[in-house]
Amino acid sequence: MAKLVIEGGHRLSGSVDIHGAKNSALPILAATVLINGVCRIENCPRLSDVAAAVAILEHLGCTVTRDGHTVTVDATGVCRGDVPDNLMREMRSSIVFLGAVVARTGGAAMAYPGGCELGPRPIDLHLAALRRLGVHIEEQGGRLRCYHDGRLTGCDVTLTFPSVGATENILLAAVTAVGTTTIYNAAREPEIADLCAFLTACGARIRGDGEGTLIIEGVERLHGCTHRVIPDRIETVTYLAAAAVTGGSVLLKHVCPPHIGAVMPMMEEMGCHLTVWDDELLMIAPPRLRRVKTVRTLPYPGFPTDAQALLMAMACVADGTSVFIETIFDSRYRHAGELMRLGARIKTEGRVAVVEGVCPLSGAPVECTDLRGGAALVVAALAAEGETVITELQHLERGYEALDTALAKVGAVIRKDEETV
Ligand code: UD1
Repeated sequence: MAKLVIEGGHRLSGSVDIHGAKNSALPILAATVLINGVCRIENCPRLSDVAAAVAILEHLGCTVTRDGHTVTVDATGVCRGDVPDNLMREMRSSIVFLGAVVARTGGAAMAYPGGCELGPRPIDLHLAALRRLGVHIEEQGGRLRCYHDGRLTGCDVTLTFPSVGATENILLAAVTAVGTTTIYNAAREPEIADLCAFLTACGARIRGDGEGTLIIEGVERLHGCTHRVIPDRIETVTYLAAAAVTGGSVLLKHVCPPHIGAVMPMMEEMGCHLTVWDDELLMIAPPRLRRVKTVRTLPYPGFPTDAQALLMAMACVADGTSVFIETIFDSRYRHAGELMRLGARIKTEGRVAVVEGVCPLSGAPVECTDLRGGAALVVAALAAEGETVITELQHLERGYEALDTALAKVGAVIRKDEETV
């Protein structure tokens, strides 16, 4: 079993280059299916989720090549609309292929994505919107069969919740539909803006009011383009949290500070000093963090749910008691149990978690419960006395490229023991 072994208590100091955003790269790769031509996607991170997206593209008939962090997709040869079950299982967000595949090929067949580590992940909003655009959807035995007669037709869609995935699927189905589609209460995450930028560079006509309304005028065809993926805001928060719990300092390069506008004040409340220059961010942490009063997760521009576990790891070693309220997902405190193995004092009830800071934590064997929960364990381990052994690393590999080497470069005592069996 592969494991990360971390000896905590070493102050981090140095610089880290931030990669492209996983949650931008995935829908953009799905979007390439719409294009009868070649797209060059730069700053595409090397992650298992990205590899799964590439495997889906190849299965659909695309030719995909990778050169460093640039992925080139030639979707001229798209010839089928089914996604194999193993690839749907590997990455729940494969559902974002639905809108693009059905628009390009006229039909799509895939397994229902089902639940995941974060609890039930319904796709009712995706399906209702696609039906309004003219997609016929049959749901049978956990499978979805989708098709349409001719081109999809633009319409007005009001989302009851600004779902990121549903907004992406509607965009992908609407850009080549006949007529205009207006999405009210669309998600406003930076990754949505990045997808819109990519589609616009391919010839799509999309306007937004910045307040959650997106207007898409369908065009007959799209063309290839070169696009650079935005920096990963959650990877950014991860390295800030990692340095902060060690009382260290870190300079992050190639970041987009406004994208973590809701996280920076929380870090400042905890005593961190942040300085921004264009695409660089310097964080200097105090010797001991202070508690943060309340962290309430919300759709963007509110505090991101994906950063909740990371701030919780900081709160575990802060002076005082912090409160977390998770409003996006039903079941997103599974990391709390693992953090408690390191000596953290956390009480969870429903969507609320109360964290009483302890100093220091103590190393122990722990398991990643999910992607960001796993990252929170790495952060906590850096602050813990003694050795922490972290297993179930496949979760971390979905979203972090070279996490161990980047942390080692800034002074962490960390090693990755690969599977030996
Ligand atoms: C995306 C991100 C994920 C992030 C989440 C919220 C990707 C690949 N993943 O996930 O990292 O945590 O946004 O910022 O970009 N919901 C419904 N019905 C639907 C769709 C969603 O009830 O049809 C609910 C979900 O169960 C959840 C909430 O809406 O409680 C948010 O989901 P959504 O915004 O769709 O997240 P994802 O796109 O799955």
